[in-house]
Amino acid sequence: MRKNIVAGNWKMNKNLQEGIALAKELNEALAADKPNCDVVICTPFIHLASVTPIVDSAVIGVGAENCADKVSGAYTGEVSAEMVASTGAQYVILGHSERRAYYGETVEILEEKVKLALANNLKPIFCIGEVLEEREANKQNEVVAAQMASVFSLSAEDFGKVILAYEPVWAIGTGKTATPEQAQEIHAYIRSLVAEKYGQEVADNTSILYGGSCKPSNAKELFANPDVDGGLIGGAALQVADFKGIIDAFK
Ligand code: 13P
Repeated sequence: MRKNIVAGNWKMNKNLQEGIALAKELNEALAADKPNCDVVICTPFIHLASVTPIVDSAVIGVGAENCADKVSGAYTGEVSAEMVASTGAQYVILGHSERRAYYGETVEILEEKVKLALANNLKPIFCIGEVLEEREANKQNEVVAAQMASVFSLSAEDFGKVILAYEPVWAIGTGKTATPEQAQEIHAYIRSLVAEKYGQEVADNTSILYGGSCKPSNAKELFANPDVDGGLIGGAALQVADFKGIIDAFK
């Protein structure tokens, strides 16, 4: 059966020393009080090699927030999936709405990134979600269905390694969370798309996380939904008390 996962996305926050301190503090908190779900922290590239050795890999997985859509070579400033994996990281966030909006990541580019991540044994945390105008026009289902094209060219075996994250753009960093009903409705729809493509068993084994202003105060009611298998957490992943409060929603 699918896993419950709480993953943090640090975004472009914390310098190296601050990031190390945050990872250490989280590691200590979870060693003292074992989580009831998988926990992942996705950090800026620069932190990965320092953070992987200081967290207990049996309790906390580490991931990047992006990787290149090319294998290697003359792509100044890019970081490949192989480089990410060589730090000991096991995950990579791909398709975050901020990357789609600010860095022009398309369905096709993301398809390449997903393939390269999997070829390097990284588990993609693949993000989908609609913007406010699309929600207001009731177009959220068609938007997420179109975004899923980046992962629907995978074999069933490879798709089985993908974690999905539904993040309505209007809920990210806004304090405006999707209601548990809104989250359940679209998560069930996303799972139905997976079932249509790969069959019910693969769909039942796919973890679908919710992201967007998730906090300790709303995590429990969001995660209580049958098709919400955890969260992808931005702002609240930057303090151990908040992040652990969300992790504890599974207790
Ligand atoms: P916030 O939790 O800050 O709304 O961010 C969500 C997010 O974008 C996680 O990837």
